[in-house]
Amino acid sequence: MSLLDFSRMPRRAIILTYAIILALVFVGVYNFGQLPDILRGSSFEAPPYGQKDTPPPPGHEPPPAHESPKPAEGQYCKWVFDKYESSAYEDEWFQEVPNVQPTTPDGTNICKAQQAEKHVAASRAIVGRAINLTAIDPKIQWKTYDTMPTTTLDPADQYMSRMYYRRVCYNEEKREFYPASGHGIQLIEPLFGMLRDPFDLWCGSDKLTIENYPNTNPGQSKHHILPQGFAPYTYTTKAAGVESTEWRTHGIPPWHSFLRPVYNEQVGTTFSTPQNIHVDLGSSYFGGWTKASSAASGQWFYDNYHARGQRFNRFVAVEVETLDDTEAYEQVPADLIGIYTLMNIGLTMGEDKLNAVEMIKRIVKPEDFFVLKLDIDSAPIEEPILQNLLADDPENGGASALIDELMYEHHVNFWPMNGPWRIASTSKKDGDLLTSYNLFRDLRRKGIRAHSWP
Ligand SMILES: *[C@@H]1O[C@H](CO)[C@@H](O)[C@H](O)[C@H]1NC(C)=O
Repeated sequence: MSLLDFSRMPRRAIILTYAIILALVFVGVYNFGQLPDILRGSSFEAPPYGQKDTPPPPGHEPPPAHESPKPAEGQYCKWVFDKYESSAYEDEWFQEVPNVQPTTPDGTNICKAQQAEKHVAASRAIVGRAINLTAIDPKIQWKTYDTMPTTTLDPADQYMSRMYYRRVCYNEEKREFYPASGHGIQLIEPLFGMLRDPFDLWCGSDKLTIENYPNTNPGQSKHHILPQGFAPYTYTTKAAGVESTEWRTHGIPPWHSFLRPVYNEQVGTTFSTPQNIHVDLGSSYFGGWTKASSAASGQWFYDNYHARGQRFNRFVAVEVETLDDTEAYEQVPADLIGIYTLMNIGLTMGEDKLNAVEMIKRIVKPEDFFVLKLDIDSAPIEEPILQNLLADDPENGGASALIDELMYEHHVNFWPMNGPWRIASTSKKDGDLLTSYNLFRDLRRKGIRAHSWP
């Protein structure tokens, strides 16, 4: 008997079968109509994804948006990094920093400089806005695109820098992506001041003050950071500019991660699903807020990503200091057991099997959402990892193409941070605050949301 042999079915069964088929067709069409614009045309059922942070190689800039074709029906589209734009306020600091970065407390310094009236106002706006955005009700999650209502930007957002994205669509016959109409923007905190929260304790009596400051983690404040899920974004698939009323303050933007087309001789084109991956180099213990291990950051990444609905499929914590396995796993939440891997060993940048960048390339695919934290106090592998990322070619297997977001504590020589970082004020090898500004801007220009980690 074939699948549906009507001749052998009673009439009632035939009607019922028709009804079921009709219902299935209707549900299929209905779902298709519900797809967000960014994926309209896709003919597969999958959670919406779309992004990869690879900048176009020089000389291969996309054609202007108004010349870009509309994607054909049934084509998969994703969003790729286009360019980084410093805010005017960030540019001001690039000018000012060379004059305010001595290695001793004498004369002008960064703490005195940030007390200028315009910097006090800007710092309150930037950190105040970041505090407000990250303080959103912890029960609110974003498991799919665009879960928050649209709105306009806050006046404080003028200080923020911007990451730009553009849309590309997949031609299954040619097996390549081509530029299509559409562009998006996401805010990121500007590079400003000492690249740390100016309301934290580092400047002593010269530190700035702000009302209702949540002084939760003295010396380790992350209040100046806008993680991707908390950074306002907007996009349009039209050739025209984005609407000022179409911003979303939180959520998963379409460039978060994306599907990879995989061609198979027998079934044609299929699409693989991305993962959410976190690698923490210099992890210490996972550290709930109750465990006052100052370097612990696992909980922060858990709260800001995993608990927001973007659950990690893989969470690798690397720590060279000897940890107690039992104690380490006592701190790990139940839903990370098996996903969380503690490597209690030092990685390298050498030719051996423990090379950090090679490990990352082994576990992360370009379409994954990957957030990397790099804070191995005074280990000599940080700088080589960063230089490797800056110099690589993202189009040809470079690891920079894998990283969506990077948290990095860059230990350079300027007062007052050289004290806690144990850098001699006479040391020349570490670079200065401007070195840091340039490093973070260069990483952002490669499409990485790079943040100065405390
Ligand atoms: C943050 O929220 C508080 C309380 O709603 C508000 O008074 C303040 O203006 C907000 N700050 C910024 C920079 O948006």
